[in-house]
Amino acid sequence: MSDTTNLRIPGPTPLPASVREAGSRPMVNHRGPEFKALLGRVTAGLQRGFRTSNDVLLLTASGTGGLEAMVVNFLSPGDQVLSVSTGVFGDRLASIARSYGVTVAKYAVEWGQAADPAVVGDRLRTLAEAGTPATAVFVTHNETSTGVTNPLQAIAATIHATAPTALIIVDGISGVGAVPFATDAWGLDVVATGSQKSWMVPPGLAMVSVSDRAWAAHQTASIPRYYFDLKRARDAAANGETPWTPAVSICFALDAALALIDAEGYDAIFARHAAVAAATRAGLAAMGFRLFADPAHASDTVTSACVPAGVEWSKLSTELRGRGLVLAGGQGALTGRIFRVGHLGDVHLDDILRALETLEAGAVAQRVPIVQGVAIEAARQAAAAAGPLGPVLAAAGATA
Ligand SMILES: Cc1ncc(COP(=O)(O)O)c(C=O)c1O
Repeated sequence: MSDTTNLRIPGPTPLPASVREAGSRPMVNHRGPEFKALLGRVTAGLQRGFRTSNDVLLLTASGTGGLEAMVVNFLSPGDQVLSVSTGVFGDRLASIARSYGVTVAKYAVEWGQAADPAVVGDRLRTLAEAGTPATAVFVTHNETSTGVTNPLQAIAATIHATAPTALIIVDGISGVGAVPFATDAWGLDVVATGSQKSWMVPPGLAMVSVSDRAWAAHQTASIPRYYFDLKRARDAAANGETPWTPAVSICFALDAALALIDAEGYDAIFARHAAVAAATRAGLAAMGFRLFADPAHASDTVTSACVPAGVEWSKLSTELRGRGLVLAGGQGALTGRIFRVGHLGDVHLDDILRALETLEAGAVAQRVPIVQGVAIEAARQAAAAAGPLGPVLAAAGATA
């Protein structure tokens, strides 16, 4: 892939230059003072991103390792959980729990729709009335496979009101750091994210926050665990270390990325994601693509659109790749039915405008029936309407 490839998948995301350079720094002793200082800085930076004073622990693993850690540390075989599933990743969390002997009641939401907090409350009451109250509730914050962001704050409030002792365990992998999120204010017990998403870092680290309530549950939780035992991670972190050799180079990269994030500030980051997402949705819709996600809950980090009838996604995708644009296809039951445009991390309006231009040209070359010549203007207007983006919009000519 060339340097000019427009990588528009929902993670791994493009890497800023300073992050790439940091990742190639000379190695250090992972049990020495340099790593200790690095781990302290990175942990504090992540706590700001998660908006939490809870422990945030670094695991050398992909995001799925973080999901597994959320299951094995706080639950026991036979525990009852309610799993709110809105797509592939919600299903994955439920399936990890089942494979460890947890009893999972699934609230399966139609793909493309968001979970309804009232239904979460109903399901919790039903479980309690049946004499099997939920020990925990799983929620995917941003369902990457469908491009839907669940109303997590309202869902968490419902859980607190209906099942106050249930732990709230959140897959925050493709949302935290890019869209408003407040671990402590929303009362979230365990939250996982992954380095290759909004953090603008290569894949390889999962980051997990743990509340005091969750630590209390850890003491009696009896699913076997070893590599992903978060207590070992916490004890090692108290000494500025990780229990096992960490992905040191990715920690360097994360340190550099967090410096960029702190310099930009979360409010500006959230506004930038809202604007590029609005631009993506408007541009695709103007071309005539049907958006897949419920507009009321469309994600600001990934947009899903339907593949038009009669169009073979693999052919269109190959055409676009040849023109320097990499998009993501659908997953699971949505394979061949939708495509997805990632817009998280180091993404600016120009990247989206370029993507729309390439998509239009590629679609025309593949004889996909689309409306031509309107997407860019629609995208610019939507971005401008989404809020002030200052220099980003000005550079893209969208503020005049
Ligand atoms: C919401 C969500 N959960 C879990 C995962 C799994 O992460 P990984 O592929 O890093 O294991 C992803 C990755 O795309 C994701 O977007």
